[in-house]
Amino acid sequence: MSDRILLVTDLDGTLLGDASALEQFRLRLQMERRAVTLVYASGRTVEAVRHAVAQDHLPIPDYVIGSVGTELSEFITGAHDECWELSAGRAFDVKTIRRVAAKVAALKPQPDEFQSSRKASYFIENAAVQELHDLAAMLESAEVDADLFYSGNRYLDILPQGMNKGGAATFLARKLHFDATQVIVCGDSGNDLSLYLHGFCGVLVANAETELVRRAAGPVYHSPFAYAAGVLDGIRHWIHESNFAGLLGGAITRRAP
Ligand code: GLC
Ligand code: MG
Repeated sequence: MSDRILLVTDLDGTLLGDASALEQFRLRLQMERRAVTLVYASGRTVEAVRHAVAQDHLPIPDYVIGSVGTELSEFITGAHDECWELSAGRAFDVKTIRRVAAKVAALKPQPDEFQSSRKASYFIENAAVQELHDLAAMLESAEVDADLFYSGNRYLDILPQGMNKGGAATFLARKLHFDATQVIVCGDSGNDLSLYLHGFCGVLVANAETELVRRAAGPVYHSPFAYAAGVLDGIRHWIHESNFAGLLGGAITRRAP
């Protein structure tokens, strides 16, 4: 078992959104950097996350889970984990997905740069739960093994079953010998849902979407703080609740952010 914690956090709407809270996060993390393996789990591509790290002066992560879990890369070397990325089943057939989705007028394909053989992404404004259920049923009838994630009342990601942020985090935790109780996951929107379904120590920032708050299962801490302040508060909560206290010394202590 590792002697560190694995911190898996979303970027947009979670770590990003409040510049001064992010600065606090950056400073606190710097003090405890050796006790934390840091992973950014984003809807953006790995490449776009690399740009964001430079542009927004984000702490350098150890790994990036990109494109909603369909990419996994080590940050420093840039090496992609092919074992994970090539694990999508054959029953995820993008052509069939396109054909089925074309029948739903409200679905607009996202630009090509956001599509891959493992991710079919659309815009659909204010979709009703029933509309998404119907689409899932249509895909199932077409024998496509896919999961649907809806975020920000706008973005729909159709992904191979089990290949999502939570799946990638589970794969990484196993590879690095972290027990689920040593993994803290933080998010704010629909594409983070899978992070809360694997028994990890969950943190929901105060600005999280209602639907995510409703559906997030397992151990979840609802922070009263938004964005990076919520992430820091969540880390403190789980340190206090669990046996991380011995791992992380003084700097990340239980105080209001
Ligand atoms: C990012 C991705 C987009 C995805 C959205 C929600 O904006 O670029 O493809 O649909 O996150 O996951
Ligand atoms: Mg987000």
